[in-house]
Amino acid sequence: MTSFLRNTWYVAMWADDLELGRVESRTICDEPIAIFRRHDGSVAAITDQCSHRFAPLSAGKVCGDQIECPYHGLQFDADGRCVVNPHGSGRITPALHLRAYPIVERHTLLWVWLGDAERANADLIPDFSYLDEGAPGTFSHRDWMVLDVDYRLMADNLLDLSHANFLHEGLLGHADMNDADVEIRDVTEPSGATTLYVTRTVDAVEPPHLFDLMYKNDRQPIDTWAEMRWNAPGYLRNHAGVTDPGRPRDEGLIVIGSHLLTPINERQMMYHICAVQLGAAPPVDDDEVAETLSRLRKFAFEEQDRPMVEAQQRAYDRAGGPDALKPVMLTIDQGPLRARRILADLIAAEAEPAPVTVAGH
Ligand code: FES
Ligand SMILES: [Fe+2]
Repeated sequence: MTSFLRNTWYVAMWADDLELGRVESRTICDEPIAIFRRHDGSVAAITDQCSHRFAPLSAGKVCGDQIECPYHGLQFDADGRCVVNPHGSGRITPALHLRAYPIVERHTLLWVWLGDAERANADLIPDFSYLDEGAPGTFSHRDWMVLDVDYRLMADNLLDLSHANFLHEGLLGHADMNDADVEIRDVTEPSGATTLYVTRTVDAVEPPHLFDLMYKNDRQPIDTWAEMRWNAPGYLRNHAGVTDPGRPRDEGLIVIGSHLLTPINERQMMYHICAVQLGAAPPVDDDEVAETLSRLRKFAFEEQDRPMVEAQQRAYDRAGGPDALKPVMLTIDQGPLRARRILADLIAAEAEPAPVTVAGH
């Protein structure tokens, strides 16, 4: 069975990364998509494969509000219509037109709808308004990268943060944090969508090194929490932080992490990330500490999470694909399992034939 949901919004890129006059190419769920801006600032997304001989349009150039194919010069507008044929009589037939995808700019990201265009409702995009222009907090760089991993394995990683006590031992967790209270909660949104929360809370423990550096740098005990919010197909927000034992969270340090997972294909994904610091604790203003923090964060991801999930992916590849291995479940897997179940049900529902309505009965 496919691991992709069609009728949903996928993050294609950070809005600021799309410059006027440039075409960007992104592959989402195996579909190549060319994304560009019109002069009025609006964004457009069309199939990144010319209807003539299938050249990538993203290698072409923007002419006004159109893209010119780099191979033989057909031009396409934001609706995917072929509008210029420089050859022969210049005749344009409907077979030359390409598919246009609904695309919206929201929460400083560009979201593309892959399914039926008439069902594309921007209100279905999960709330990432804390990323909006002018929202409070101290922002990290809005970054993105490609990982050689099934996006669902990355969601498993984020929905089970017990791994911080082992994989990131000392840095983001330690053995005393194993005994966390874990709460798993589903919320049904007015749209009918399910939001899943997986929250880990530990009281009065020594702060993991990274939080200690950001908070008071005194190794005194803290209360700590990480509330991971998940929405299908792969949108996660981690509301995490530390505070003095027994004190309200907003008196301490709050870091909201954004983890936006977009499948490129069955075994590759785009990962868009950005963190926002909130709460009463002042942002780090010492250059040396800030430099250490950024080095340690990079280390945790590049040297610990990334090699781990990519090694898992290779295990699936060796076995023959995403369904070829059956993991043995532990108690820590409840959050990841719940998310996988919700996603699988949504994908299965899309595969069902539409109900037949009989006129006049
Ligand atoms: S492949 Fe695009 S015009 Fe020929
Ligand atoms: Fe991790």
